[in-house]
Amino acid sequence: MDSIKMNIQYVYNWLPEEDILKQGANAIACNRALYDGSREGSDFLGWVRLPSSITDDQFKEIESTAESLRSACDVVVVVGIGGSYLGARAVIDALNNSFDRLQTKRDHPLIVYAGNNLSEDYLYELIKYLENTSFGIINISKSGTTTEPAVAFRLLKDLLEDKVGKSEARNRIVAITDAKKGALRTLASMEKYKTFVIPDDVGGRYSVLTPVGLLPIAVAGFDIRKLVQGAATMEKNTGPNIAFEYNLSAIYAVIRNELYKKGKKIEILVNYHPKLHYFSEWWKQLFGESEGKENKGIFPAAVDFTTDLHSMGQWIQEGERTIFETVISIKEPNYRVEIPYDSQNLDGLNYLAGKRVDEVNKMAELGTRIAHVEGGVPNILIEIPKLDEESMGKLIYFFEKACGISGYILGVNPFNQPGVEAYKRNMFALLEKPGYEDETKAIKQKLSTLYKG
Ligand code: PA5
Repeated sequence: MDSIKMNIQYVYNWLPEEDILKQGANAIACNRALYDGSREGSDFLGWVRLPSSITDDQFKEIESTAESLRSACDVVVVVGIGGSYLGARAVIDALNNSFDRLQTKRDHPLIVYAGNNLSEDYLYELIKYLENTSFGIINISKSGTTTEPAVAFRLLKDLLEDKVGKSEARNRIVAITDAKKGALRTLASMEKYKTFVIPDDVGGRYSVLTPVGLLPIAVAGFDIRKLVQGAATMEKNTGPNIAFEYNLSAIYAVIRNELYKKGKKIEILVNYHPKLHYFSEWWKQLFGESEGKENKGIFPAAVDFTTDLHSMGQWIQEGERTIFETVISIKEPNYRVEIPYDSQNLDGLNYLAGKRVDEVNKMAELGTRIAHVEGGVPNILIEIPKLDEESMGKLIYFFEKACGISGYILGVNPFNQPGVEAYKRNMFALLEKPGYEDETKAIKQKLSTLYKG
């Protein structure tokens, strides 16, 4: 099968090829550091060799747990936030029928999500919906202490136990967490839930190819072996001994860093298929959390075209020239729809009669690329052959590897996220969590002086 292709000619106006090649040695050194652990974050490199190291027994355990949930449940709630949910959602949405939710009959449980926000209305409406369904829960938290999923799980566990009894609820709850630490590990051991371990050396946003992503994806009915096979192909194609010219992740990492140095501070990930919306959300977390630190880092943004051409398109065409685009293009859609001929032609569309909708989409894509490049927006084009498990696996690993290399080029630790603690400290202080007494006092003082009203 074709692999991922990358077309970088639309950055040459800003970044000549020779300037990219000059950075090759540094990028390859950064790639090697992901293998020899010689730089910061070396405790979190378990994802690098992950695709090629998943064993048949590991696949079988995930597949058989998925099968039990599939046979017991019409709906499975994936509880998790950030890296503990976005990867699964990215793949499931990309591969699923767009109207899965509306189908009355399906051969797999409907996957819904919880624990990724603190909205009372969301939880109320979810609970009301689940009251009339046969549901199960996959509860995912690496730390096992994150507030959003913990709140959701407490509510959903109560609901499930009330509905089916404690013993049947146990058969329908799976916990994915740290091997030893955290409240979720303790709770899962006490309640005797089926569990999977998130390896210590794989951080949340790099965990989609562990049970964190693989179990929900398997429950949704997709082939996790093909997904991992795709990732393993990219693992091989971006290995430590691959020359810069052939290592797509390294080239992409160099280009984005060089554009950043030239003032292109915002990268917009573009798709032309709404199914990729959550892939962009996963990508935003991957790059945003990995690189946005020490007062530097590209701001990762995303748009769904052609939808957003009618809103954000104006800004992209003519706003501040601090952006570049990375477009994910799908060569061949999975289905065919032709635009029909109409004898009256009142809408004036007969010039398109007989053409596939995708041909129109592709011309919109090409026309947009030309317009944006001429408007001052460098453009990196990434093409996948089609939306299937293998391509998704390739894309995931391509970006993970690029992110590791890119973070090292930027000079940050791409595997920590110290900044996400700040809001939590304030929230716990405001909620008067035990252990936060000093912070509570301090924040109340701050509120009464600085943030009055
Ligand atoms: O990438 C990360 O590490 C984070 O986004 C986490 O995945 C997220 O905060 C959820 O954490 P946890 O899995 O510990 O509940």
